[in-house]
Amino acid sequence: MTVAPRVALITGAGQGLGATVALRLAGEGVAIAVNDLVPERAEKSAAAVVAAGGRAVAVPGDITDPATVTRIVDDVRDRLGPIAILINNAGIPAGGVTLAPFADTSPADWEAMIGLNIYGVLHCTHAVIGQMTELGWGRIITVTSDSARTGEARMAVYAASKAAGASLMRSLSKELGRDGITCNTLSLGTIVPAELAGTERMLAHAKRYPLRRLGTYDNVASAVAWLVSDDGGWTTGQTIPINGGYSTS
Ligand SMILES: NC(=O)c1ccc[n+]([C@@H]2O[C@H](COP(=O)([O-])OP(=O)(O)OC[C@H]3O[C@@H](n4cnc5c(N)ncnc54)[C@H](O)[C@@H]3O)[C@@H](O)[C@H]2O)c1
Repeated sequence: MTVAPRVALITGAGQGLGATVALRLAGEGVAIAVNDLVPERAEKSAAAVVAAGGRAVAVPGDITDPATVTRIVDDVRDRLGPIAILINNAGIPAGGVTLAPFADTSPADWEAMIGLNIYGVLHCTHAVIGQMTELGWGRIITVTSDSARTGEARMAVYAASKAAGASLMRSLSKELGRDGITCNTLSLGTIVPAELAGTERMLAHAKRYPLRRLGTYDNVASAVAWLVSDDGGWTTGQTIPINGGYSTS
């Protein structure tokens, strides 16, 4: 698998999945711009990449704000070069998703999810397309949830807002393919850090999965590495489930 030495912007990469993807891509020779809403997280994750021998800068900021995204993208271009890879990964922090029947929710509950999962993805994607088109090469990957494909009770707005990202990738794959840009979606089941995987609650949750275990960040990082590699370059417009068999269509 060959990954060209390019520049990636990963949103929400200060912890969790994004931080693991940052380390994985850096190990493949990609220079990483680590975005996160929480500056300390972005700095720590970028420092971890550098400590592992990679190249990384921290670009903290709120991606729901278009002016902030423009600033971040300009900053990355100045410090690392044009962005060839965008991973739309930032998500609502654990516990931040309102679990409730849709009828019991209000517009105030919807705003955060729509702001991040729709506007955040739109802002970042819109801001990098010009640079990718100039390069004649690009990879855009949006991280969504299997709830967006299959539906999930008490998570209706979260699922709907995540579905928008997958829909955007499908449309953009058709607009941008001629410029050498691929656009794909990773649709995740439950992914947990190793230290949580063995807890009673997670072991019970894992019984809902045919493989009887929850996913790891590395399961997803491997798929990202393949999609950005030359080998993954003929896949575009797809929603790829990484879900332990939780859903099968
Ligand atoms: N972990 C799972 O089980 C799971 C399942 C399905 C989908 N996902 C998706 O995978 C992605 C990563 O999830 P995770 O488990 O690593 O989450 P996480 O909460 O550990 O990390 C997400 C990061 O995004 C950052 N963030 C939040 N709002 C932001 C904003 N406005 N601007 C910039 N950064 C922002 C947070 O500060 C946090 O560091 C998310 O999109 C999530 O919805 C995760």
